[in-house]
Amino acid sequence: YQALDDEARKILRDNDRGSYTVPTDGLYPYQWNWDSAFAAMGFAGSDPDRAWTELETLFSGQWQNGMVPHILFHKPDPGYFPGPDVWGCSGPIPSSGISQPPIAATMARKVWEQDKGAGHPRMSALVPKIAAWHRWFMQWRTDRGAVCITHPWEAGRDNACDWDGAMAAIDPQGVGEYTRRDTGHVDPAMRPTKQDYDRYIWLVQRGRRLEWDEEQMARDTPFRVADPGMTFMLLRATRDLRAMAEATGFDTDEIDAWITRLRAGVETLWNAELGSYDSRDVVNGGFAQCVSNASFLNWYAGIENADMLAQLDRVMDAVPHGVPSYDPEGPKFDAKRYWRGPTWGIVNTLIAWGLEDCGHAAQAERVRRTTRDLIAEHGFAEYFDPIDGSPAGGGRFTWTAAIWLAWAT
Ligand code: DGY
Repeated sequence: YQALDDEARKILRDNDRGSYTVPTDGLYPYQWNWDSAFAAMGFAGSDPDRAWTELETLFSGQWQNGMVPHILFHKPDPGYFPGPDVWGCSGPIPSSGISQPPIAATMARKVWEQDKGAGHPRMSALVPKIAAWHRWFMQWRTDRGAVCITHPWEAGRDNACDWDGAMAAIDPQGVGEYTRRDTGHVDPAMRPTKQDYDRYIWLVQRGRRLEWDEEQMARDTPFRVADPGMTFMLLRATRDLRAMAEATGFDTDEIDAWITRLRAGVETLWNAELGSYDSRDVVNGGFAQCVSNASFLNWYAGIENADMLAQLDRVMDAVPHGVPSYDPEGPKFDAKRYWRGPTWGIVNTLIAWGLEDCGHAAQAERVRRTTRDLIAEHGFAEYFDPIDGSPAGGGRFTWTAAIWLAWAT
C-alpha cells in the first residue's frame, strides 16, 4: 500500500493550513470540529507535534460557556455558505453557533498514547478545556441523560432520516433567498435537498436572533432530537477524558457522574419495536424508526448488545460495501444521498474500534476490510455508495486519509 500511504500523507499535507486542517479543499474551506479530531489522529503516527497543534487550534475557538463550535472560520472564504456573517457569533474566533460530535477527547487520548513523554503537558493543558466542553453538553444538550442536537449539523449526520420527523415540524417561513455553495462543488443528488437547506438556515437564523443564548434557544424549540450517535460518542469520549484526567490529577468525580448519566441516557434510546438504538424526538417523544450507522456505536461506548450484533450482520449482508448509514432494507434508503444510505469510513472506524474492544474480532475485521478495500479501489472520498462502492461527495478528504493511515491498513 506504499502508493496509497503516500497519497494519504499528501492529502493531509495539502489540506493543512498551518495550524489546522480543512476537510477538503473547496467544499469545506474552514476548520470543522470532528474532522479536525480525525486529522489529529492521522498526524499522530508521523508528527505528534502537528497532531497536538490541530487540537489546540480547535480549542482556541472554545466559547466562554464551554462550547466548541462546529466550524471555525479562521479566514474568509466566499466558496462556503453559510459563512460567519450568517451565523453572527462572537466567540474568540469567528465561528458557527452549534457544536459537533465530541470525539476530540478520544482522539487526544490516541495522540497521547503515541506521545506519552513530550505529549504529557499538552494533554494536561487540554483536559480542563475538554471537561468544560463536556460539561456544556451535559448542561445544555441532554434529555434524560441522552445527548440531543439542536440542529442536524450538530450531529454531523446532516440529512439522516433520523431527523425527518423533527424537520417536518419546522415551517421555514421568512427564511428568504440564499445561494447554496455546496451544490457548486458536488453533484446535488449527493447533497441534502432544498427542503433540508431551508430548515438548516431557518434554525441558524433563529439561533442568531436569540443571540445563541442556550436558555432562550431551548425554549419552544421545534427541533430537539436525542441521538444515539452523539450519546455513544460523548460517553466514549468522557471515559477517555477520565483516563487522561486521572493521569494528570484532574478531579474525576464530576466525570464519573457524567458517565453514569450518559449510561442511563443510552437506555432511553432503545427502540424495542425496531430492535435497535434509535433517535428520539424530544419535542413529541416519538422514535425515528431508523437503524443508522450511528446505532452501531454502542460497542464504541463500551455497551454490549446482542440484538445490535444481529442487526449489524443483517445490514452488512444486505449491501456489498457497508456499513450503510441507513438500513438498506428500510423505506428511505438512498445509496447516494449523504447520510441516507452511503458508507462513511470514519463511522466504520469508530464502529470497528468498539467491536474490537468488546471482543467481536470477526465483525471488526469485516468492517475494516470493507473500508480498506473501498478506499484502495475508489480513493479518499468523503463517503461511498454501499451498493457499487463508487466514491461520493468531496474528494481528497482529510478524514478518509486519516483513517487510512491510522486504522484501515
Ligand atoms: C455542510 O455545510 O454541509 C456541513 O456539513 C455543515 O457542517
